[in-house]
Amino acid sequence: MATDQNKFQAIISHCKEYGFVFPSSEIYDGLSAVYDYGQYGAQLKKNIRDYWWKSMTQMHENIVGIDAAIFMHPTTWKASGHVDNFSDPMIDNKDSKKRYRVDHLIEAHAETLPAAEGEALLAQMDNLLKENDFAGLKKLIEDKKIKCTVSGTSNWTDVRQFNLMFSTQLGSVTDEASEIYLRPETAQGIFVNFLNVQKTGRMKIPFGIAQTGKAFRNEIVARQFIFRMREFEQMEMQFFIRPGTQKEWYAYWKEERLKWHLSLGVSPEKYRYHDHVKLAHYADAAVDIEYEFPIGFKEVEGIHSRTDFDLKSHQEYSRKKIQYFDTEINQNYVPYVIETSIGLDRMFLLTICNAYEEEDLSKDGKEDSRVVMRFPAKLAPIQLAVFPLTKKDGLPEIARELMDKCKSSFFCFYEEKDAIGKRYRRQDAIGTPFCVTIDHQTKEDNTVTIRYRDSMEQERVPLDKVKEIVLNKINE
Ligand code: GAP
Repeated sequence: MATDQNKFQAIISHCKEYGFVFPSSEIYDGLSAVYDYGQYGAQLKKNIRDYWWKSMTQMHENIVGIDAAIFMHPTTWKASGHVDNFSDPMIDNKDSKKRYRVDHLIEAHAETLPAAEGEALLAQMDNLLKENDFAGLKKLIEDKKIKCTVSGTSNWTDVRQFNLMFSTQLGSVTDEASEIYLRPETAQGIFVNFLNVQKTGRMKIPFGIAQTGKAFRNEIVARQFIFRMREFEQMEMQFFIRPGTQKEWYAYWKEERLKWHLSLGVSPEKYRYHDHVKLAHYADAAVDIEYEFPIGFKEVEGIHSRTDFDLKSHQEYSRKKIQYFDTEINQNYVPYVIETSIGLDRMFLLTICNAYEEEDLSKDGKEDSRVVMRFPAKLAPIQLAVFPLTKKDGLPEIARELMDKCKSSFFCFYEEKDAIGKRYRRQDAIGTPFCVTIDHQTKEDNTVTIRYRDSMEQERVPLDKVKEIVLNKINE
C-alpha cells in the first residue's frame, strides 16, 4: 500500500500504466515538463473541459465562449505587460548550474520544516517578494542554508529576473519585427476581442467571455508531473463589470468557483483559499483556490480582480477606443474585469488524486486489494462496461445490442476476454462506475447484473433499464 509520501509516485505510475498520461516523446527519453494524454486521459480531460464549459456558458445567460488563436500580434504582450513583467526571480547553483525559481526553492525547503517554522519562512519570503528585494531573498536562502538538490551545495548566484514567454518567428524572414510569442495565458485573446463580442452579441454589462486553450510558459523549475508544465491548458473567464462594483463581483466569483469545485463531490476540507500578498502587475486583489494534493496544498485556480488594466492598455497601444456605453447610467467607460482562471491539467491532476484509492480487500486471512479510481460518473472516461459472461450461446449478441443502444449517449466499453473478476478490476483501475454482465439468465428473463464500482455491490436489473440508470447518475 502506498503511504502519503509515495502516493504521488504511485499515482504517476498508475497514470502511465493505464493510459492516462505518458511522458512526451518517450521513445527519445521524454521532454522535460511536457506530457501527452493517453486514451483515457484525453477523454477524462475532455469531460472536465466540457463540464467547465457547460457550467460557465450554457448555465450563465450572460457568459459566452470564444476560441481565439494561440498566436497574437506581438504588441498584445507589450500592452498586457508580459514583455516587461512576466518574469520570475531565479537563482542558479554555481556548482550544478541548475536554475531554480526562488519561491519554489524556498517553498520546497519550508515543507521540510516543522509547520510553524515553515510558515514563518514563507511569510518572510512573501514580504521580500512583495518588496522585490532580491538581495534579501538571496540572504534568506543563504541564512537558511538551503541547498541545491543536485550538487548539495549552497553556492548560489545573485537572484535575477527571467521572462517566461516562448518566442518564435512568423514567416521566413528572421528579424525583430517577425518575432512572436506563444501565448502565456489565454486571457489576452478575450481582451482583444472584447468589442467584437460585445457588439456582435449585443452583450450588456455585466457579462463574461470564456475560453479554453493552450498556454505556454518556459517554466524553469518544471517538476511534480503535470502540476507545472511548459505547455498546458487553461480555462479562463473574464467578467466585465461597471467600475466600482469589483469588490462585490470578486466576492461573488470567489464563492461561485469554490461551489463549482465542490459540485464534483470533493470534500470541502480538501480545499482552502490563499490570498495573494504579492499581486500580479494587473491585479488589485487575487486569491487562489488550493487543493490538498499528496504533495501538499497547491493552487488549482486563481480569481483575480484585474481592474481596467488590460482594456485600457490595449486601448492605448492599439489607439482604438475600447469602451462601453452603459445605458443605465448614460456613461461611457472602460469596464473593470474579474477573471477566473483554472488550469485544466491541474484540475485533471486534482481529479486523479482525489479519485485514486488503494483499497485493502483482504478477508478471512486471504490477501486481496484493488486500485480504484472513484471518478464522479459524469467525468469518468468510460461510463459503462458491457461484458458477456461467455463468448458463446448468443450472449455477445445481446451485449452488442446494449452497446448499440447506449454508445450514442455515453462512453461504453465492450470486453469478452478473461474471468469476470479480472474484467471488473481493470475497469476499477480506469474508474468505470458501472459494469453490466450478460449471462444465461438474461436469455430467460431479460435481466442483467449491474456491478457498482464504489461499493462493488451487484444487483439484478431489467436489461432495458440499464441506459436510464447510467444516464441518471451521469446527469446528477
Ligand atoms: N490569466 C491569469 C493567469 O494566467 P495564473 O495564476 O498564472 O493566472 C492560472 O494561471 C492557472 O493556470 C493556475 O491556477 C494553474 O492552474 C494554471 N497554470 C499556470 N501555470 C501552469 C503551468 N506551468 N502548468 C500547469 N498549469 C499552470
